Amino acid sequence: MADNTFDLIVIGAGPGGYVAAIRAAQLGMRVACVEKQALGGTCLNVGCIPSKALLESSELFHQAGSSLDIHGVKTGGVELDLKGMMKRKSSIVRRMTGGIRGLFRKNNVTHISGLGRLAGDGKVDVDGDVYSAARILIATGSSAIELPNLPFDGEYVISSTEALSLDEVPEKMIVIGAGAIGLELGSVWHRLGAEVHVVEFLDGVTPTMDRELSLGLQKVLEKQGLRFSFETRAESAEVRDGKVIVTLAQGDETASETCDRLLVAVGRRPNTDGLGGEDVGLEMDDQGRILVDDVFETNLPGVYAIGDVIPGPMLAHKAEEEGVAAVEYMAGKAGHVNYDAIPNVVYTHPELASVGLTEEQVAADDIPYKVGKFPITANGRAHTLQAVDGQVKIIAHEKTDRVLGIHILSARASDMLAEGVLAMEFSASAEDIARTMHAHPTLPEALKEAALNVEDEAIHI
Ligand code: FAD
Ligand code: NAI
Repeated sequence: MADNTFDLIVIGAGPGGYVAAIRAAQLGMRVACVEKQALGGTCLNVGCIPSKALLESSELFHQAGSSLDIHGVKTGGVELDLKGMMKRKSSIVRRMTGGIRGLFRKNNVTHISGLGRLAGDGKVDVDGDVYSAARILIATGSSAIELPNLPFDGEYVISSTEALSLDEVPEKMIVIGAGAIGLELGSVWHRLGAEVHVVEFLDGVTPTMDRELSLGLQKVLEKQGLRFSFETRAESAEVRDGKVIVTLAQGDETASETCDRLLVAVGRRPNTDGLGGEDVGLEMDDQGRILVDDVFETNLPGVYAIGDVIPGPMLAHKAEEEGVAAVEYMAGKAGHVNYDAIPNVVYTHPELASVGLTEEQVAADDIPYKVGKFPITANGRAHTLQAVDGQVKIIAHEKTDRVLGIHILSARASDMLAEGVLAMEFSASAEDIARTMHAHPTLPEALKEAALNVEDEAIHI
């Protein structure tokens, strides 16, 4: 086999692409992975990992400055070393992306640096060099959506990428969009001292998540000091003397507000620029997402796509699962992605975590259901953690008791949710969760109590 011929060429080395490349190599394929920027994609470089690093550091800074007294810990003067915080974040990113390089070496995945372009007939052009493969997997991910009236300038009107690397704390930040990025990065800069105003088009935060718990999160964030304006549009922005003047519209009323940084976080769009999809007839929908069938094959035989560049939630674990399933299908195995059990977490404090259907979706689909709830304030461990905000809500089928959705607003909800995802994966009933022994004292006991409460049988309320 010539050096530039492979069984599989993966375009994009984000969590979808690099995981698919490793799995394909495990399955015996000769694999190359083309990446135009850094290994690890959005998630490792400018997404999941750096944002969680800053969320952790900023929460510690905030606690050290305001809430350790109650534990009997006197900290004295607490100072922010933003440079040090950013250095820690960058070193985590370096370590993780270096880890992928090591995994590629271990699994004999060839890393090709450059822009991958579909050249037809199983060929991929990388900056003028042509490679061929029996199969091609597109995992080119997504980029921040730019609002035409608020174009990014990289300094004052910024996307999440710049908001992860500011070199000083802005006095005031306006955030457009109360989704995952707006709330997570809004929280980071607020904890570090910025005044933060979040402007959202719809009528509440995290509009796709369970309404009751989203409202709960909104109230806690308001208590923490974030300001929200709902049903509000950002009309335009003008940078003058180092400040951004933003025009906001609510109904027919408009008003302008000045800030130091304007973070626009209104969603992401699939990356297909430069991929050459149009030239080879690759089918995409009106939002530019590549269309695939049940085994992730596009309309072009032998060309597959997964992750943020295809329809579905834009989440790292969804991209990974699709990557693994796609190459398993290619190898004649039974790939598996359960779209009914995709976990979704917003890493604020408390965290909002959910899997399955929301109460609004169950009601809209006319599914007969019952709900069990348990307040976090009734959980012993939560008191020891000094984190009593939130609740667990379990939605189960009224007749079969099968769990349809689990929603958790709590500190460490991301970790608690794993049990809920597993329960849904195994089609558990609420009673299955209720009768499972949970270690005491732990936050997941709140999940058990919510499950008991589906039949009004919670012990501790
Ligand atoms: P990507 O990670 O976007 O990777 C695609 C890669 O392809 C990129 O490296 C790109 O350079 C490369 N590429 C594109 N076109 C070409 C080409 N033509 N040739 C060569 N290379 C190309 N998700 C979570 O699940 N949890 C989180 O906590 C979370 N936090 C996030 C925080 C932020 C601030 C952001 C922005 C996103 C976050 N996400 C999170 C979303 C997550 O990052 C994405 O869902 C995930 O990275 C998608 O993986 P992917 O492999 O499909 O694409
Ligand atoms: P998002 O889709 O989560 O939220 C965007 C918000 O902006 C929505 O509430 C929407 O109603 C609002 N909006 C849209 N247009 C608007 C406008 N013109 N004016 C005001 N508000 C407007 O998108 P976000 O936060 O940018 O995140 C992008 C993607 O990255 C998401 O798909 C998300 O899943 C992923 N992500 C995941 C994280 C996690 O899993 N913890 C963290 C960060 C991002």
